[in-house]
Amino acid sequence: MKIDTLLSPADLPALARRDLSGTACVVFDILRATSTFVTALHHGAAAIIPVSEIAGAVALRQQQPEVLLAGERNGVRIRAAQSGGIDFDFGNSPREFTPEKVRGKTIVSTTTNGTRALQACAAAKTVLAASFLNLAATADYLRGEEEILLVCAGTGAGVAMEDVLAAGAMVELLTARVDVRPIGSETTETARQGFAKLKTDIASAIGLTLNGRRLLAIPELRDDVAFCARRDVCKLVATMQPDGAIRAS
Ligand code: MLT
Repeated sequence: MKIDTLLSPADLPALARRDLSGTACVVFDILRATSTFVTALHHGAAAIIPVSEIAGAVALRQQQPEVLLAGERNGVRIRAAQSGGIDFDFGNSPREFTPEKVRGKTIVSTTTNGTRALQACAAAKTVLAASFLNLAATADYLRGEEEILLVCAGTGAGVAMEDVLAAGAMVELLTARVDVRPIGSETTETARQGFAKLKTDIASAIGLTLNGRRLLAIPELRDDVAFCARRDVCKLVATMQPDGAIRAS
């Protein structure tokens, strides 16, 4: 098993030149896109369609009026003034995606980093949206893979520590089995060591990140930080399928 890690969204454009046909890409946007998608699927959403731009989400709604629209810019829900007249149904807080609101629904989502990272991996053999919420289930799914690329979605143009910590936690899980001899890269080792240092109180560590502090300062979003730091409360794998939709398995 080879495990490589992209720590920064600055590395995403280079993925277009990389042969990913044998690679399982695992995208982490802990605060909050992938945590939100996993929660929505856990609560019964039929599918999440990640799109990069607001205009792309609106165009899908015009083609398929039954879809719900989700997403944020600067952390908060997209409003009519930003989308040419449509108030989005959800922001990007996982706590909004309750079973009552999402069961059986297809949700189109556009976020600043997470949906772009997922799209950048679209040519890979397998693309998974992962989070602390479904870390163990995702690790179990990956155990047969030869080539794994952990992709940290980041914050804006920069590294997001919470994504790196989740990648490190995944490395720890994947390397825990004695019969697996992983070949890691320098970036994978960086993530592994970062997680190993902070893992005793991951919620506090995440609360000290740039994204964590930003969310903690917004009263209605502050609880998202502790929510997204919970481990293995969702026993599902979130897979991006050939039609571009993420579904649970
Ligand atoms: C993103 O995709 O950049 C994020 O998930 C941002 C957020 O939810 O605040």
